Amino acid sequence: MVRERKIGQFTVSPIGLGAMVLSMRSDGRPIPENPAATIHAALDAGITLIDTADIYAPTWDTMGHNERIIGEALRTYDGDTSDVVVCTKAGITRLEGERWGRNGTREYLRERALLAVEALGVEQLDVFYLHRPDWSILYGQSIQALAELRTEGLVKEVGISNASAEEIRIALDVLGDGGLAAVQNEFSPWFHHTSRLEMELCAALGITFVAYAPFGGLSGSARSLDRRFPAIRRAAGELGISPQRVTLAWELSLGDHVIPIPGASRPESITDSAKALTDDIPQAMLDAITEEVF
Ligand SMILES: NC(=O)c1ccc[n+]([C@@H]2O[C@H](COP(=O)([O-])OP(=O)(O)OC[C@H]3O[C@@H](n4cnc5c(N)ncnc54)[C@H](OP(=O)(O)O)[C@@H]3O)[C@@H](O)[C@H]2O)c1
Repeated sequence: MVRERKIGQFTVSPIGLGAMVLSMRSDGRPIPENPAATIHAALDAGITLIDTADIYAPTWDTMGHNERIIGEALRTYDGDTSDVVVCTKAGITRLEGERWGRNGTREYLRERALLAVEALGVEQLDVFYLHRPDWSILYGQSIQALAELRTEGLVKEVGISNASAEEIRIALDVLGDGGLAAVQNEFSPWFHHTSRLEMELCAALGITFVAYAPFGGLSGSARSLDRRFPAIRRAAGELGISPQRVTLAWELSLGDHVIPIPGASRPESITDSAKALTDDIPQAMLDAITEEVF
């Protein structure tokens, strides 16, 4: 298996850490008291890509929480972090009373980029995604705003998230060849019916596809992968590894442009997931999973 993947100008580990659960979770479990322990465990395990967003926070008035704990964890890590790439997102709004919305305007995205720079404690953002389309304006206008942030030097690479095939093409048109570093869409054995098309389009266009919620999200899907998918259960049983590792290895096998970003609130979860970086699952097992899932 290839041990490195590209996201724009950066070379990163093929698996990233999805940091959202360190600041908020929808399943009622509390967020961890020591989030840095999980981030440090990821770095110890060789993970060099961390995924965050401005809205990942316990409450509407603590937006930026996740970016702040990542910045802090990188500063307190006792190893080298010079090759760590942090990707953040903006474009979803969270207002008083937990009212959620969208804002993909130039002014708002620039304001959020400046706040992210401050929260992370960096001078430039490595990768800045439009989190979701703002359908009150033309998609191309939001992408143009991201392009301007890149020209200004506030962001190094631009990405889009929750994007359709049409939106990917619009973004590429605005940003030019090689200008769109990544598309981040939901993809897992549970959820692929809409995003498989975008994954394949990204392969054809030479764009990195970041698979979010790669175990199916927080609703218990991560725990029931082996119950729902017998081919994953069989592979995990025969190889003596976790169903989550099998799942990540399968997702990685779908293309060199695919980077899954499993969420983890516990150090044990990301330490186990990172073992998929070196797993070589027999092709017949991967094929059986593909047949079952698709
Ligand atoms: N772009 C978007 O709109 C969007 C939306 C949602 C998520 N995301 C990104 O995707 C990331 C991941 O999504 P997610 O956290 O919702 O879902 P997920 O990665 O599918 O599942 C996370 C769950 O899996 C468990 N887990 C992780 N590794 C495990 C292992 N090796 N063994 C057993 N359990 C394991 C975690 O447990 P513990 O908590 O107990 O460690 C956590 O509860 C987020 O952090 C975020 O960065 C992006």
